[in-house]
Amino acid sequence: MRWLVLALLCLQLGQGMVRIPLRKGRSIRDVMREKGVPEGTLKDLRGDPGRKYQLSNAVAYEPLANYLDSFYFGEISIGTPPQHFLVLFDTGSANLWVPSTYCQTPACVDHARFNSSLSTTFSGTGTTYTLSYGFGDLPVVLGHDTVTIQNIVIRNQEFALSLDEPTRPFYYQDFDGILGMAYPRAGIPGYNTLMQNMLQQSQLAEPIFSCYYSRNPTYSYGGEVILGGVDPQLYSGEVLWAPVVQELYWKIDIEEFSIGPSATGWCSQGCHGIVDTGTFLLTMPGQFLSAFLQALGAKESDNGFIVNCSDIPSLPTLYFVISGVQLSLPPSVYVLNNDGFCTVGVQSTYVPSASGQPLWILGNLFLRHYYSIFDMANNRVGFALSA
Ligand SMILES: *[C@@H]1O[C@H](CO)[C@@H](O)[C@H](O)[C@H]1NC(C)=O
Ligand SMILES: *[C@@H]1O[C@H](CO)[C@@H](O)[C@H](O)[C@H]1NC(C)=O
Repeated sequence: MRWLVLALLCLQLGQGMVRIPLRKGRSIRDVMREKGVPEGTLKDLRGDPGRKYQLSNAVAYEPLANYLDSFYFGEISIGTPPQHFLVLFDTGSANLWVPSTYCQTPACVDHARFNSSLSTTFSGTGTTYTLSYGFGDLPVVLGHDTVTIQNIVIRNQEFALSLDEPTRPFYYQDFDGILGMAYPRAGIPGYNTLMQNMLQQSQLAEPIFSCYYSRNPTYSYGGEVILGGVDPQLYSGEVLWAPVVQELYWKIDIEEFSIGPSATGWCSQGCHGIVDTGTFLLTMPGQFLSAFLQALGAKESDNGFIVNCSDIPSLPTLYFVISGVQLSLPPSVYVLNNDGFCTVGVQSTYVPSASGQPLWILGNLFLRHYYSIFDMANNRVGFALSA
């Protein structure tokens, strides 16, 4: 669903987007960090004293790259011997898919493709399926194989091999596939998500994963996804927890939204927010967008909602009230400065609200300011100020 954004981004950036040669697996490995598991730091994060899952000692620190200030992606491998892929770690979907040698379109040929005949651990199901995204459909065939992410090895993981990929948006992306981290109900029925299998195969030290997106990302280091733990060096202060309101996406309640000191009242009947690492911008309910832009003095253009860069310091800070606490988003975070061309990193929410409550999507823009923790055992999302 979030893919509509991606398609729009591509339309905006499309012509000017230069494909640089992919340094698959190398630049990312270069920045791999060797770290021990910080002891005792997770105790205060565990809400449920009764352990639901059998856990191991493994925490995987998966570095992410970022290209042209859009998506963040990291490397995984599939098969025996391993075949390497760059994937978008996406909390807004639940399936794992990669390009495959069954697919001959330019988008596939130009990316790493999984060749099932080269893997001794692959088993095919022959089942085809269509993954539906905002821009259109992605036909896939389903199979099982070993998936490796850093030191974590998941056996017999269901995944999807693309049979066809539209040029837009995939040809233009630096990642090969998508690794969904939403709830199983958002995925292909009857298949275990990667996160489910990690838990069932006792792969994680804690039933959580967390995400850090650098405010100053580069291609070689954009942040990290930490599977099975948190990295206290990557955030500061207390962790604020918000319960998941529906176990489909990582959807939470937003109690109030303020522009500067003035509460808007837009969430007086309750708002929902999906915490989505697969959306780059912050999306707001469409009915509020023009009032919001007016409050900022932003001008609409073909290239987004423009503000004068020299006005950034005088723009209002935004506040979300979540679990009774105000989370601020300063203009230095929500305004994107592309070499002196400044746009407000906000757009209208492109998915309808299932509940009828105004729906926001807290994308990478928000998650650069707030380190996020996804607690699968207690169904809650934690936020702490990003380092
Ligand atoms: C996949 O691997 C098989 C076995 O080595 C090989 O014959 C085939 O050409 C490969 N397919 C592609 C598209 O590279
Ligand atoms: C931006 O604001 C500065 C200072 O007020 C002004 O000099 C400049 O002309 C403005 N730029 C644009 C594009 O409006």
